[in-house]
Amino acid sequence: MQVLNPLAIQLNEQLRDAAPVVFALLSELGKRIYLPKGILSQTAEANTAAHRFNATRAIALDFSQDMGDMMHLPVSRELVPELSLENIYGYAPVLGQQALREAWQTHLLNENPSLAGKTFSLPIVTSGMTHGFSLLAELFVDNGDTLMLPDKIWGNYRLIFESKAGATLQTYPFFNAASDFNTHGFRETLANAPDEKLLVLLNFPHNPTGYAITETEARQIVDAIVACADTGCRILVMVDDAYAGLWFDAAVMPESLFGLLAGCHPNVVPVKIDGATKEEYAWGLRVAFITFGLGETPMQPLEQKLSGLIRANTSGAAQVSQTLILAAMKTPGYAQQKRRNYGTLKARALKVKAVASDAKYAELWEVYPSHAGYFICLNLKSANAETVRQRLLMEHSIGTIALGETELRIAYSCLDVSDIETVFALIAKVIETL
Ligand SMILES: Cc1ncc(COP(=O)(O)O)c(C=O)c1O
Repeated sequence: MQVLNPLAIQLNEQLRDAAPVVFALLSELGKRIYLPKGILSQTAEANTAAHRFNATRAIALDFSQDMGDMMHLPVSRELVPELSLENIYGYAPVLGQQALREAWQTHLLNENPSLAGKTFSLPIVTSGMTHGFSLLAELFVDNGDTLMLPDKIWGNYRLIFESKAGATLQTYPFFNAASDFNTHGFRETLANAPDEKLLVLLNFPHNPTGYAITETEARQIVDAIVACADTGCRILVMVDDAYAGLWFDAAVMPESLFGLLAGCHPNVVPVKIDGATKEEYAWGLRVAFITFGLGETPMQPLEQKLSGLIRANTSGAAQVSQTLILAAMKTPGYAQQKRRNYGTLKARALKVKAVASDAKYAELWEVYPSHAGYFICLNLKSANAETVRQRLLMEHSIGTIALGETELRIAYSCLDVSDIETVFALIAKVIETL
């Protein structure tokens, strides 16, 4: 057993006083981690007082032209001439650019009416959503802790939470007999959960099916979580909103579950993981956010702990990526450009639904309900998904994803609307000729 650093002890006491439930949810690493006072705080002090010579930052300055510009290579600088050197090459703050964090908080308020009047934190910038999940796993998951997930998931959760953090996954069938979200199964699994600590992960719009919940389902989910919390169980609810905003069906709830979860019960700690990745069409920029349904007092020690974790793995998300996302969000054409992409994806979503559900394919596959996001998923009735995937690839140069024995995921986000009929006709042809 490691001796805790006095700074970690101090943060733990602060957190225990401000939010005992959050403290109780911490992993052993979560209890150990802290942000050392060393280089970062000495640099911060120098930034305010070292007006003559500031020799603290681990960067290089160039004095040939000006009073200490950032040294750089013009070959890359010329590609982004409008941005300042600091905004391209400088280190971003560990928790992300303040202005970007504030802009994302405003974005969350605008997009999620249920958040109005609720307490939630300033978003913390991560290097993509995967990094956000990894941080949450480090902060909250110990070997053997239970994580509740549906049986259809984005596969990386397994790697992050099970393989890396050692969580025990407890699954429930995603769909009920009517092919709606299995709120009953969700509730039952919660009822049989461990007594003291539980992690829950929910993802709508859903990967791999494209399913999104209705408002009634959302309320049933929150009620089930509250019922479990009432028994004394402390629950960290992670809401994966990778595809937020991409709702294409008027019947579903066009906002995040996070808004309903924030403040729903003292034993429930909701955290929203979302990002520029899919929502802002900026996959490789690696800018995402984690936002807690918590107020400032618990967030102070929690931010220190997250700063320690970020410092110890990526040290922070890329500055130029954050600059690009923030600049885009502040540019007048931003909303209109997003609407245009939304319109394009919605047209594909509607077309894909009509084509895939055509009665002529009814003997070949069942189409899982898809209302949002990037995907539609077929449950093949007699063919093996991997065989179909390989044949599609080899014989027709079509790439799809096989999941398990019978499921084939198609990212219609990557198909032109005019090609959708052809793709499904060829999937059918492959199955029929097996
Ligand atoms: C549901 C879901 N969550 C998270 C991610 C990962 O996002 P990122 O690329 O920002 O790590 C993906 C990517 O496919 C996803 O489908």
